Amino acid sequence: MAEDTASKSEKIIVNTKSGKYPVIIGKTLNFGELTRDVKDACKVVIVSDDVVFPLYGDAVMKGFSKSGYRVNACIIRNGETSKTLSTIEKILEFVAKEELTRTDILVALGGGVVGDITGFAAAIYLRGIDFIQIPTTVLAAVDSSVGGKTGVDLNSGKNIVGAFHQPKAVFCDPNFFGSLTEAVYADGMAEVIKHAMIKDRDMMFALDDLSAAEMCKRNIKIKASVVELDEFDTGIRKILNFGHTVGHAVEVLSDYKISHGSAVSIGMTVISRASENLGLTEEPVLTELTEILKKHKLPVQCDYSSKNLADAALRDKKRSGEKITLVIPKKIGSAELYDLPVEKLESFISKGLEK
Ligand SMILES: NC(=O)c1ccc[n+]([C@@H]2O[C@H](COP(=O)([O-])OP(=O)(O)OC[C@H]3O[C@@H](n4cnc5c(N)ncnc54)[C@H](O)[C@@H]3O)[C@@H](O)[C@H]2O)c1
Ligand SMILES: [Zn+2]
Repeated sequence: MAEDTASKSEKIIVNTKSGKYPVIIGKTLNFGELTRDVKDACKVVIVSDDVVFPLYGDAVMKGFSKSGYRVNACIIRNGETSKTLSTIEKILEFVAKEELTRTDILVALGGGVVGDITGFAAAIYLRGIDFIQIPTTVLAAVDSSVGGKTGVDLNSGKNIVGAFHQPKAVFCDPNFFGSLTEAVYADGMAEVIKHAMIKDRDMMFALDDLSAAEMCKRNIKIKASVVELDEFDTGIRKILNFGHTVGHAVEVLSDYKISHGSAVSIGMTVISRASENLGLTEEPVLTELTEILKKHKLPVQCDYSSKNLADAALRDKKRSGEKITLVIPKKIGSAELYDLPVEKLESFISKGLEK
């Protein structure tokens, strides 16, 4: 990972085994011109959702055509319930009708849902074409747009089908955050607080002092540094799943009415409380964590039983054989992986639900 601060925008290079790509962070970015740095003139299909596209679609499309790209847009319904194989099929049919070839490109303009879906469509269309991420939520900017995890949900669980497919570039413009609802903004803060909990104690206590661009930069650096070590999620990358085992269970049990960020917030609280109660932390973390989550308008409890949470979590793909890998906070800013036999998960979670 290298950094280039020469221009007004900032560049972080993400260096994975599958490829090296820039993340450009700055306000009022010229997406068309930036794309010229990574891709010659070609056809572009922008994938966006029915909330984001009416706000920003025209301007982004014009930017691409001015820079010499032939551009069209495929709009999907907003929200997690669109993260399905049928949406993928719709996008693939659209892209095929547009006669995109392997030298053309998809652009994800939206939050984590649009990013995950577009990346997966790009991974499988013609066995893989390039795509660019233009994240429009805090969550997508600080987390999901970097790292190459793409995919969709099945009825039986979240992100069950997918591929590792790194973007060709990520353009992160905090101007998009101006139109986010308070709740969607808060969802992104859950992943920021996750990064702080596992890797960056100082950030945990400096959240109010960071500009949006600085916040993106700091979080993308954390994400990139972990992804570079373990692109395919066989070891240390699992640390990024802090709060996600229980979080995914909460999302599924709520029929996705509880959003990803909110579910992760609940998940981090449950795991931290359980870890403290079981004497696994080096120092107390729960009081500080819950205070900061609440301050950022995130939920810290749910009504599901430990049995329901454990059953839903074990249907999740993160289980490997007879054990499940949890992420345990040691202190604020440091966490470690912890293997638990699957039959102990319910009692572990119950320790995290105690009042
Ligand atoms: N691939 C990864 O590594 C990774 C990491 C974390 C999360 N995720 C996934 O990301 C998804 C959550 O992403 P999300 O929180 O961005 O949700 P989202 O994409 O559903 O966006 C939330 C809502 O905000 C709207 N929106 C987006 N940008 C907007 C803007 N600028 N102004 C106004 N409204 C806007 C969307 O239309 C949507 O209604 C989940 O599916 C989660 O599994 C993936
Ligand atoms: Zn997440």
